[in-house]
Amino acid sequence: MLRAFEGSQHARLYAQFRPEPPAALIAHVLQYVRRSSPLHRAVDVGCGSGQNTRLLAPHFGSVLGTDISPAQVAEAAGSSTSGGGVTYQVAPAEEIPVPDGSVNLVTASVCFHWFDRERFLAEVDRVLAPGGVIAIYSYNEPSFRLPDGTVWTELDDIFKEVLYVHLADHWPMPTLLGDIMSKTHEAEAMISYPEIQWDEESYFIERPFSLELVLGEIASWSGYQELVAARGAADGDSLLRRTREKMCAVINDAQSRGIDVASATERRQSYLLMARKPAAE
Ligand SMILES: C[S@@+](CC[C@H](N)C(=O)[O-])C[C@H]1O[C@@H](n2cnc3c(N)ncnc32)[C@H](O)[C@@H]1O
Repeated sequence: MLRAFEGSQHARLYAQFRPEPPAALIAHVLQYVRRSSPLHRAVDVGCGSGQNTRLLAPHFGSVLGTDISPAQVAEAAGSSTSGGGVTYQVAPAEEIPVPDGSVNLVTASVCFHWFDRERFLAEVDRVLAPGGVIAIYSYNEPSFRLPDGTVWTELDDIFKEVLYVHLADHWPMPTLLGDIMSKTHEAEAMISYPEIQWDEESYFIERPFSLELVLGEIASWSGYQELVAARGAADGDSLLRRTREKMCAVINDAQSRGIDVASATERRQSYLLMARKPAAE
């Protein structure tokens, strides 16, 4: 089993710099569950530092966040997500620590590609109550936008160079973000429930552009953390420093042309697979 989110410093970076799922996506998931199930109990599998768990918490009687990484679970449990109806537990996705038929919603946000997908889906079928829902979602890399909404190509290119060139040999699994989306989409054929839907067009995550956010997100990637583990912190720092310098040059150039860089944004595509366990006869 791949383990790539184990350090507490990594978990801290993850909590600080990774985006949370879009509110519209969460609203749609809740609406979909309500059609066949009460919102009593949800399990957020691969919860990481609790981004997604936190969004579910106000809507359910109780939410359990599980993750294989003790560091991620400690980070989540230490955040304001904990308390109320939310608990966290270290557990593999392939062994969800709840009784058969006891859950109305299972979510897997930005993590399905890490799991043993067959075993996870069998486990989801075990824990879901009749009429319960499995929702799997994630996002692609951001694209930067100038204040007039056009793509900020120079920044996109620098970002992609880090992702696909400098970190190419360090991703713990041989995958690119597009492959992660395909891996998620493939689950449509692996789930036997008759009611199933895939949507890669409706949801986007938007944040104001910030150089610190971009560099922090890079440092939170498993590929960056593997580079540091393999070659040392100095190499990681050097990559971040060079990326900062290149991005600063692009930003300064934009400012010299009168562009209001403070109004730039980052936008990324999000996608969602949902399926409903048939209600009891
Ligand atoms: C990219 S993070 C996603 C965190 C969070 N759900 C989010 O929305 O950002 C992937 C998480 O999956 C966890 N993970 C990887 N393999 C796992 C497994 N087999 N069982 C449970 N969690 C796993 C990692 O520890 C990590 O916290």
